Amino acid sequence: MPAVSMDQIVSLCKRRGFIFPGSEIYGGLQGAYDFGPLGVELKNNIISDWWRSNVYERDDMEGLDSAILMNRLVWKYSGHEETFNDPLVDCRSCKSRWRADHIQGTCPNCGSTDLTEPRPFNMMFKTQVGPVGDSGSFAYLRPETAQGIFVNFANVLATTSRKLPFGIAQVGKAFRNEINPRNFLFRVREFDQMEIEFFVLPGSDEAWHERWLEARLAWWESIGVRRERISIYDVPADELAHYSKRTYDLMYDYPSIGVQEIEGIANRTDYDLGSHSKDQASLGLTARVNTNEDSTARLTYFDPESKRHLVPYVIEPSAGVGRCTLAVLCEAYDEEMTKAPAPEKLQAVGEALLAFLKSVGKSEKLRPEQRDAILAQGEAVSAALPERLAEVETLLGLPGADEIELGKKLRGQAQPVLDEHYRTVLRLKPKLAPVKVAVFPLKRNHEQIVATARGIRKQLQAESGVRTLYDDTGAIGKLYRRQDEIGTPFCITVDFDTLGEGKDPALAGTVTVRDRDTMAQERVPIAELQTYLRERLR
Ligand code: GAP
Repeated sequence: MPAVSMDQIVSLCKRRGFIFPGSEIYGGLQGAYDFGPLGVELKNNIISDWWRSNVYERDDMEGLDSAILMNRLVWKYSGHEETFNDPLVDCRSCKSRWRADHIQGTCPNCGSTDLTEPRPFNMMFKTQVGPVGDSGSFAYLRPETAQGIFVNFANVLATTSRKLPFGIAQVGKAFRNEINPRNFLFRVREFDQMEIEFFVLPGSDEAWHERWLEARLAWWESIGVRRERISIYDVPADELAHYSKRTYDLMYDYPSIGVQEIEGIANRTDYDLGSHSKDQASLGLTARVNTNEDSTARLTYFDPESKRHLVPYVIEPSAGVGRCTLAVLCEAYDEEMTKAPAPEKLQAVGEALLAFLKSVGKSEKLRPEQRDAILAQGEAVSAALPERLAEVETLLGLPGADEIELGKKLRGQAQPVLDEHYRTVLRLKPKLAPVKVAVFPLKRNHEQIVATARGIRKQLQAESGVRTLYDDTGAIGKLYRRQDEIGTPFCITVDFDTLGEGKDPALAGTVTVRDRDTMAQERVPIAELQTYLRERLR
């Protein structure tokens, strides 16, 4: 079962080092997150898979890595200076600021309806360029990677001899001064985008738009986001971005925050290449663009069929890496009972949980919304024991829960039962798992077992090139659970049998390989490990 609440994911990410709040030791910075040791591996694996599938496995795509800082005129002619706005309102009572379309006329902070009229707020960050801070020396941090592709269209065309249709793919940082960053990685001020601008002959754009919709849905499925959790939103005309003729938003059903956009697939027509071109009157543009007296180029394509220069249409699939990471984690997350706990143990945990909730209900240390959140989740867990017992951990991680003294007693009752009877497992596709293989010695103070385990780790890492870890910091059962929780597909254990010192001499030179999903174990000769793992990790 995928994650049932965003708290489960936030708690796992913090506990295991996937994602940390940015600048945490100074109180944080809203809308900025850091990817920890496991987070960076997961994020890189997602990006590599996107790149492999869109650049390497197609023969109509080039890659690009353009600068984040661009000439200010790019954003003038792209339309972002004029239109990249969100509606901002102030609450006259508590002085907080909100995005008007997110709050339905009531201040979420104090409940007042005394709000100012919405006014446009431009979301682009400005930064000074060079040592002299006059009014003309600024640049914007790009709010989308796309414009770097458009302004390089002629460079790529000239250096690759591409014919239409072809695309340019880019992955990189984008920055938006969101009025209210929220929902963990979902709405942040600094994020990575994976974008394609796919250039096509005018007239073939609608068919290509449909093809890209199918291709993108297939990719999401290939990384473990089930098709039934994604819906397609055909964006109505009054919600379309200024450059779009039609846009399909792919919407994912996140736990707690609901159905939200993970990717936009837009038909940008000839708007962008036309906007950035000189001599626009001679280009036969269909999009309405502002006159450009600054560009030095015509961003056109010579069509050998019609023997004329034309401005290609563009289909743009654009996905955020953070939103994708979050969806992948939600899909992969599972809390599983491995064997039913004895009734008396279960009863003791159930009673400790009820006593904790009673104390939460009476506590004056908690803010009302903290109390309500803990009670809602706690009562749901209490009603579904033993299946949802593993959620006690998430419950105790909710804001304010550590203020309740009886939380310690609940943890004390629940932890041993959780350790023995439950596991959290990230059922990530092996290609996305941050660690592919973990190697353990059965005994960490046995020289030969340790040396063999370390040797296997080193050899697998070198030969297979996949992230392989050595760990000897706990009993084997605990090490398995730790790797399950971060999604490691295979664990290898070196024991006395490996050394030929066990009961069965035939097992000499073999190790135990445990599968994350089935928990099945089998003996595999060390000499065959690489082939065994390669076949299963593919
Ligand atoms: N070039 C087109 C473009 O930028 P967009 O719909 O504004 O279109 C594309 O953004 C994707 O970027 C979104 O589908 C989302 O995945 C991601 N994204 C946009 N704003 C974001 C934010 N504030 N935080 C995280 N991801 C964001």
